Amino acid sequence: MIRFVNVEDTLPIRNNILRGGKLSLDECRFPNDKIPGAFHLGYYEGDELACIASFHPKKYGEFNDAGYQLRGMATIEKYRGKGFGNQLLNFGIVYLRGQKANYLWCNARKKALQFYLNMGFEIISPEFEVPVIGPHYVLYVKIQ
Ligand SMILES: CC(C)(COP(=O)(O)OP(=O)(O)OC[C@H]1O[C@@H](n2cnc3c(N)ncnc32)[C@H](O)[C@@H]1OP(=O)(O)O)[C@@H](O)C(=O)NCCC(=O)NCCS
Repeated sequence: MIRFVNVEDTLPIRNNILRGGKLSLDECRFPNDKIPGAFHLGYYEGDELACIASFHPKKYGEFNDAGYQLRGMATIEKYRGKGFGNQLLNFGIVYLRGQKANYLWCNARKKALQFYLNMGFEIISPEFEVPVIGPHYVLYVKIQ
């Protein structure tokens, strides 16, 4: 089941999956987590939070229309490959369409590239390195 969640609910998974479990929960917050329009989604398997994604109103580069940035997309290991990530992201995109957002973008890890390409994202940057984490691309999907 997909629910809107508080950012605090996402922090343990952000830490364990995206930060190697090395940070404090507070260090896993993103600066835009609580700005107006930001929201966080969770996919629950029973009572267990299995997959998370955060959406922040933020334009990319020179793009003018209403853009959102996807951050903190992660599924805990035992639930990967079951379509939870795909469903959660699709829910976010449909919700954003209702919010009149024009596009969604993200800095995506090269390892997760296929996941985003399957969802209709396009690569809009050369490959770049994020220190410690590894190679990334900027990806973009038009919403309306
Ligand atoms: C990327 C991630 C969020 C996908 O979540 P998920 O719930 O497993 O995704 P889904 O089950 O909806 O997968 C959809 C498709 O993407 C593919 N896929 C998922 N993760 C992938 C990965 N890391 N690399 C390549 N393909 C991947 C799956 O094979 C699946 O394709 P298929 O249906 O054709 O087999 C998850 O693998 C994850 O948390 N990875 C570690 C953290 C991470 O890299 N997050 C993204 C940061 S940019």
